[in-house]
Amino acid sequence: MTFNRAQPNNDLPKLPPTDFVESPEILRHLAKASRYLGELNGLCAALPDSQLLINIVVLQESKDSSAIENIVTTQDELYKAATEEGGESYAAKEVLSYREALYVGLSRMRAQQNLLRINTIVEIVQTIKRSNIGIRNVPGTALKNAINGEIIYTPPCCEDTIREMLAALERFINESEISTLDPLIKMALIHYQFEAIHPFIDGNGRTGRIVNVLYLVQQGILSQPVLYLSSYIAKYKAEYYQLLRGVTEKNNWHDWVMYMLTALIETAKLTASKIKSMLLLKDETENKMKQVLGASFNFDLLQLMFTLPYLKIELIEKMGLAHRQTASTWLKKLVDADVLKPQKIARTTYFVNYKLMELLTSN
Ligand SMILES: Nc1ncnc2c1ncn2[C@@H]1O[C@H](COP(=O)(O)OP(=O)(O)OP(=O)(O)O)[C@@H](O)[C@H]1O
Ligand SMILES: [Mg+2]
Repeated sequence: MTFNRAQPNNDLPKLPPTDFVESPEILRHLAKASRYLGELNGLCAALPDSQLLINIVVLQESKDSSAIENIVTTQDELYKAATEEGGESYAAKEVLSYREALYVGLSRMRAQQNLLRINTIVEIVQTIKRSNIGIRNVPGTALKNAINGEIIYTPPCCEDTIREMLAALERFINESEISTLDPLIKMALIHYQFEAIHPFIDGNGRTGRIVNVLYLVQQGILSQPVLYLSSYIAKYKAEYYQLLRGVTEKNNWHDWVMYMLTALIETAKLTASKIKSMLLLKDETENKMKQVLGASFNFDLLQLMFTLPYLKIELIEKMGLAHRQTASTWLKKLVDADVLKPQKIARTTYFVNYKLMELLTSN
């Protein structure tokens, strides 16, 4: 029997799938993913000021996850927006909301005995969308091909059914005894299931990708939400859609799980290498700043350059690091020493930690 794409998928089975087999190929990938994630986690634990670089990774992740939804912002625009309050572009604002949503989810989970609750997931989507969006309560949501309008998938209907499915998913996430599968495999299953339930009118992809990272934290695989997972999905987006469909229509869990494990392997490597490069750059920058500024070297200024790579004199003043005159002297010296580059946009001059920006933009 062929799957009817226009019919709400109310027969969506509960997790775990009954016919999922851990093939040798999957087990090999699993071992590799665990190893790389372990290395990444070790690296994060050893970071001198972990929150700083983690914030950058989270912002990068937010950017790519939002790009999957065609919310595209440039690195420059995004980091400028992070410096400003208000007046940022629509896309940059969306990315910043995504980051906030991730942190909201994390803090709720930590406050609720490490449980990832449906209420929290609703709060996440509300933060992303900056609206009071809730579980779908009217029929009519369908996923369509953007080019020809053809229906690709119709998620379950209506509210009661969706709530039941979510309750089962919540148990699968939080009660480890339901299945003995490895958490990394479970992450892949959970992501599919969440997308197939598609509980909201919009924001399901982004919310589901936040759940991925939160689940890794919940399971103790990462102690911080520091994985640049959406960069892989953004790069292999067509496959991502096609494989989700493969599970629904052909029960092809194998290829879906392989895809997610590969994403974990590749992005754990990528994230670790970015963090290492950032650490190196930070050390170099610190040394250079000490040479250039001598006794007036300021550690908080260094930290700020790696938090908000688009600096302004007013910001340094506002953060209470120095008065205007000192701030301006610092920045001038750092420009002369090629540590920062000035960039004038409208009436504001930004002092850009351009080496950090280059590092973030390169792949
Ligand atoms: N055939 C499918 N079956 C189930 N889920 C799908 C299918 N195709 C795509 N999806 C999921 O739906 C998401 C899009 O849904 P929605 O527009 O609600 O989310 P979004 O966060 O606004 O968008 P995006 O995921 O594009 O960022 C995709 O990211 C994907 O995770
Ligand atoms: Mg959308």
